[in-house]
Amino acid sequence: MTTNIILLGPPGAGKGTQARRLVEERGMTQLSTGDMLRQSRNSGSDMGRRVAEVMDRGELVTDDIVIGLIEERLDADRTDGFIFDGFPRTLAQADALAALLEKKRERLTAVIEMQVDDDALVRRITARSTCANCGEMYNDITKPIPEDGKCAVCGGTEFKRREDDNEQSLKQRLLEYYKKTSPLIGYYHANDQLDRVDGLGEIEEVSRAIKDVIDSRA
Ligand code: AP5
Ligand code: MG
Repeated sequence: MTTNIILLGPPGAGKGTQARRLVEERGMTQLSTGDMLRQSRNSGSDMGRRVAEVMDRGELVTDDIVIGLIEERLDADRTDGFIFDGFPRTLAQADALAALLEKKRERLTAVIEMQVDDDALVRRITARSTCANCGEMYNDITKPIPEDGKCAVCGGTEFKRREDDNEQSLKQRLLEYYKKTSPLIGYYHANDQLDRVDGLGEIEEVSRAIKDVIDSRA
């Protein structure tokens, strides 16, 4: 049995940041539906064009699309465990994930809710940038790009900001989270699968708290 976890939390909670650390440290596989959808929009495919507008408005894309993306990856990847980052985001997606895992005779080890207050989320998101080459995440305030202008991981010199990281889309993304995704907290709590970590601490502290949860549930 492998370790499979969900990182659950609002935009900017640090899901992607922590998922990348778990990939490096534990050889797990990050499944970020947001990253998959961004890849698809960059490919210029029909689906990419359809989802781009929805994402830029800060709304959720349809359940069918993201469930399809996850199903493909669950079938294709051989791994020491999956980190679901930004999926599931609705109760229908949570049910679909349970069915997909059951089919593979896998189980969820833990669902980790990363708690961060709204003011901190806005500060984090509006200051975020990403290395265009390797995807390493930076933050103008808490983790600035090195002074020589080179990515600390790959040496890349190009950095980008996300189309949906503006105040208006962020407001909508938060609304979507509270309306459609936060009910999952009760759902997983009722299944005795939920653990909470304080997402406001330093990246290193949050990382330790997440590892403690995984080890206690494994
Ligand atoms: P997605 O890409 O998943 O975006 P999100 O959920 O809005 O979350 P973010 O990626 O913005 O934040 P994060 O929690 O990963 O934080 P990060 O680590 O970057 O989804 C985008 C869109 O795609 C959605 O709006 C929707 O349209 C669509 N979509 C995706 N999945 C879907 C699904 N399942 N169903 C339907 N639609 C879907 O950190 C943020 C910043 O904070 C960074 O700058 C980082 O350096 C900094 N930071 C991180 N941790 C800390 C810390 N501890 N202290 C200080 N700073 C920190
Ligand atoms: Mg992310």
